[in-house]
Amino acid sequence: MREAMCNAEVGDDVFGEDPTVKKLEEAAAKMVGMEAAIFVCSGTMGNLIAIMIHCNVRGNEAYCGEDAHCLLYEQCGASQIGGVNLRPIRNNIDGTFDLSELQAKLRKDRDHEPISKLVLVENTIHGKIVPQSWLKELVSFCKERDLKLHMDGARLWNASVGSKQSAEEIVSGFDSVTFCLSKGLGAPVGSLLCGSKSFITEARRIRKVLGGGMRQVGVLAAAGLVALEHIPNLINDHKRAFVLASMINDMQSTVFTVDLSTVQTNMFSMQVNSNVVSATKFAQCLQQLDNDNEDKIIVKSLALNDSSVRFVFSLEITDNDLKLAIQRIRQVIKKFDPKL
Ligand SMILES: Cc1ncc(COP(=O)(O)O)c(C=O)c1O
Repeated sequence: MREAMCNAEVGDDVFGEDPTVKKLEEAAAKMVGMEAAIFVCSGTMGNLIAIMIHCNVRGNEAYCGEDAHCLLYEQCGASQIGGVNLRPIRNNIDGTFDLSELQAKLRKDRDHEPISKLVLVENTIHGKIVPQSWLKELVSFCKERDLKLHMDGARLWNASVGSKQSAEEIVSGFDSVTFCLSKGLGAPVGSLLCGSKSFITEARRIRKVLGGGMRQVGVLAAAGLVALEHIPNLINDHKRAFVLASMINDMQSTVFTVDLSTVQTNMFSMQVNSNVVSATKFAQCLQQLDNDNEDKIIVKSLALNDSSVRFVFSLEITDNDLKLAIQRIRQVIKKFDPKL
């Protein structure tokens, strides 16, 4: 990847003159079966641009699951910058939400209420693949009601590899999609926003006002092209995540548990009985160097709340890293579970 970055042919992308960026954008659009794509610096920026285009009048409203990244972890840029009201819908365990609830939330009164415009779906969501049958239902629902559909596919390729469906099938009927080249695919930076030609023309303009116009950015696009070659390898991250989740369950702890049906890709949550230990304390302990332990293993994890710890696998994590992580996690689980 570093070599590709070093050798990248570049030009001024603000003027559409960077050949490596063009190559990446063309490849991305083709891979998701859309007309065009634009290279943006982050998933957050890609989502925000999509929201601002689909909801192009201040006072528009968009709908997403209550657990969605764009609602919880993107500073609600939709409202802060885009003038868009983002309205949450209760997420089901499989990442879907009830279309009856969406229907009930849609606005009808044009004088007093915002105008319903857009639905956002995250896929994968917390590592879970959103069922394709539901996506199809949602596409029909939105088409009948003239609502736009955007997919936050930061981990679209994990959904694709995990479900053995092409990305094109997954996003079929959607108006736009973002996916990330960083995270599991290992590029240092960058996401692609894909949609129709006119949508991407508009995206280019909005990216500029958000400060995302980049110049000789082919050095990063070159890393992105290499990242795309890694897509088939994502299956290894999925396998490693499942091995770790199974190991935790095999310990038969009543304090630390994983619902294996939710372990579908490279990322899963472990439930922690917070009456015994908080997820934060558990995660901190995993990251502390243990002077008694010769291997000095630390495991990075994220406490999502008091009772849930997230583990994520990506490109640079090898089988040996997994083996060491298992040792350490076992040790810390035993430390906190009085029955083990
Ligand atoms: C589902 C999802 N969407 C969007 C993003 C934002 O991506 P970025 O960190 O590149 O802004 C993330 C980041 O973790 C994410 O998990």
